Amino acid sequence: MATVRLPGLIDAHVHLREPGYTHKEDFYTGTAAALAGGVTAVLDMPNTAPPTDTPERFAAKAALAAAKAVCDVGLFVGATTSELDAYLPIAHRACGLKIYVSETFGSLRIEDLGLLHRFFRTWAASGKWQAASGKWQVAGSESTLADPQSPVPDRRSPVAVHAEELMLPVCLNLSHLYGVHLHVVHVTRRSEIELIRRAKERGYPVTCEVTPHHLFLSSDDLSRLGTRGDMRPRLASPDDVTALWENLALVDIFATDHAPHTLAEKAQATPPPGVPGVETLLPLLLTAVHAGRLSLDDILLRCVENPMRIYGLPTQPDTFVDVDVDARYELSDARMRTKSGWTPFAGTPVFGRVEQVILRGRQVYDGERVLAEPGSGAVLFQSA
Ligand code: DOR
Ligand code: ZN
Repeated sequence: MATVRLPGLIDAHVHLREPGYTHKEDFYTGTAAALAGGVTAVLDMPNTAPPTDTPERFAAKAALAAAKAVCDVGLFVGATTSELDAYLPIAHRACGLKIYVSETFGSLRIEDLGLLHRFFRTWAASGKWQAASGKWQVAGSESTLADPQSPVPDRRSPVAVHAEELMLPVCLNLSHLYGVHLHVVHVTRRSEIELIRRAKERGYPVTCEVTPHHLFLSSDDLSRLGTRGDMRPRLASPDDVTALWENLALVDIFATDHAPHTLAEKAQATPPPGVPGVETLLPLLLTAVHAGRLSLDDILLRCVENPMRIYGLPTQPDTFVDVDVDARYELSDARMRTKSGWTPFAGTPVFGRVEQVILRGRQVYDGERVLAEPGSGAVLFQSA
């Protein structure tokens, strides 16, 4: 039995469903699941009901998180067709702007080129540039931001896009033309990762992330998973999965797109897309370390260092996770803490059991129980 001490992991892409869908998850259950998975900070998406698209709605969501979260939470603002750039006054309190340009859960979808121009232009002008010398690292290359005239550096945060297929080159070009850091969430296809390679080689300000389900599952698993295997982007072909592994050096972040829906909802003929994942991130990745497919440093780069750098996250002092990296067990629905109560990896043998989590000097998870009080997690960037 080998216990390894890791920094707290960051899951830069979760849907904690509050407000509006608390029968699926809420800030307490989602962040408790995170702690049990060795994750001490999460970045929460804006496709709630109502969506996070105005200062009032952002403040209301931040208050809910402040009252209930047990790990740290950053909040995205979302681009919507109704509120346009209403979020700009509180842009500096968000970890980024999320734009859905491809099919997703909920109503947040932007399909109009004129609107996309507007979002990139206004985000570029919102004064959110980070200090640092105008230079920033992306996996595989170093880029210099194209716009030296930008307002005084403050905190640069990216436009995060769900952009599949032909929408990816559209977003890459807009980010290049406006000099805005583009973060491409859940990349799945060979065509997409190869386009990102080309963009990085050309110095485009782009980073990207891949989910565990797109790394460890493929369309071959769909007959076994049924409607539980439905998510956006859909599970891709085995060749697409191979391409992600071949191009791992270009993948900046592993994030789960933790998207809980109830089993009853998933049993419908047309289920809502998405799968839970925040608490299975670490064991799945450690299992890949056991198999020689990843190194521990690969995990720490993509689940700690890069998320911190890309989103400008604060460090968490006296925070660590003890994991028995040799403990072997089977993932199961019954062990999940997410309110949705299931995992697409049920039945999968994994290595890596979280023994305890210490957050800011306090034991918040002891291997069995979440000990942190609701509201002990911090909501990031709210003091600015
Ligand atoms: O599968 C998905 N589920 N993809 C998304 O883009 C959204 C997410 C959700 O919110 O359920
Ligand atoms: Zn998502």
